[in-house]
Amino acid sequence: MKICVLPGDGIGVEITAEAVRVLKALGLKMEMEQALLGGCAVDATGNPYPEATQKLAQAADAILLGAVGGPKWDALPREQRPERGLLGIRKQLNLFANLRPAVLYPELANASTLKPEVVSGLDILIVRELTGDIYFGQPRGIETRTIDGVAQRYGYNTMHYSESEIRRIGRVAFEAARKRNRKVCSIDKMNVLETTQLWRDVMNELAPEYPDVELTHMLVDNAAMQLVRAPKQFDVMVTGNMFGDILSDEASMLTGSIGMLPSASLDEHNKGMYEPCHGSAPDIAGKGVANPLATILSAAMMLRYSFALEEPAQKIETAVKKVLAQGYRTGDIYEAGTIRVGTKEMGDAVLAAL
Ligand code: NAI
Ligand code: MG
Repeated sequence: MKICVLPGDGIGVEITAEAVRVLKALGLKMEMEQALLGGCAVDATGNPYPEATQKLAQAADAILLGAVGGPKWDALPREQRPERGLLGIRKQLNLFANLRPAVLYPELANASTLKPEVVSGLDILIVRELTGDIYFGQPRGIETRTIDGVAQRYGYNTMHYSESEIRRIGRVAFEAARKRNRKVCSIDKMNVLETTQLWRDVMNELAPEYPDVELTHMLVDNAAMQLVRAPKQFDVMVTGNMFGDILSDEASMLTGSIGMLPSASLDEHNKGMYEPCHGSAPDIAGKGVANPLATILSAAMMLRYSFALEEPAQKIETAVKKVLAQGYRTGDIYEAGTIRVGTKEMGDAVLAAL
């Protein structure tokens, strides 16, 4: 197992260090090598995704990423900005399947803005297509056109999916459901958009290959409503890039803190990049107080999805549950009566629990 570690900027450095310690403690045979991505790479080489990092990322079986960006680089031209490095690596490695689990740990039931009975026990997985849809469609643009005799600005984008693109993300959802509660809810807007009619058709065509998984469909506006009304009705939700962008952010907040949420972005061979959903948190960077659990849980996803190592993945997840039950909390999830710890102490607690 060759793992490329890209700590990135801000708290990225602090949180990936803890995830690396946890991975090493499992005693698995793995090689880990670090490289620069984002603002740190810009500072060192002028390029947010330097050649050396590209080589390492391409040769690796999996990538563990912290976060990139920060105010220091905000004034740079677009192509030199840290975010360009992130988009560059996603595109270059064809990471089309974005998996975002939203799990509410019972100990954090009061951290959510929703009523405990609505979210307690929540465990859903959103599968978002990441390299197609209206975000990448041509033609696109803003230009001046004469409409009804009036010259005015005109904006347009193109929603598009090929059936092979839908099929490959659909398979990811069905396969993921097989390892969970065997339910897939496909989200579309087939009553209005032809592209998503095709989405629904292709999902229905795939279903007979997975007779052990129940497939249902829901229109996206209803899905947005159902996610806050009764989120526990879902197991796996699968959808396109734009709907998935919006629904996955909505789902992430059901669980309380962004410091708890891992993610995976996979290609067709389960090569993947694993990262917390949050950013580089410049406001707390360098202070040793960031919550490393999202990154540690991302490492568990790496073992599960890139290496099919379900048992060690669950070991990490069980250890995280244990430290929460023991009362350890970083600042973002702290409440009275719990034990406030920093990044490294949280890592120590997870190691002890392991
Ligand atoms: P952010 O996610 O970095 O921070 C939002 C808030 O959440 C902050 O108050 C921060 O302190 C807190 N927070 C985030 N992660 C935390 C953790 N692990 N533990 C405790 N508290 C945590 O989002 P923001 O502030 O909008 O962006 C900061 C920088 O990060 C920007 O440059 C942005 O472009 C970049 N960013 C990078 C991402 C990535 O690398 N994938 C994703 C999102 C933002
Ligand atoms: Mg988004």
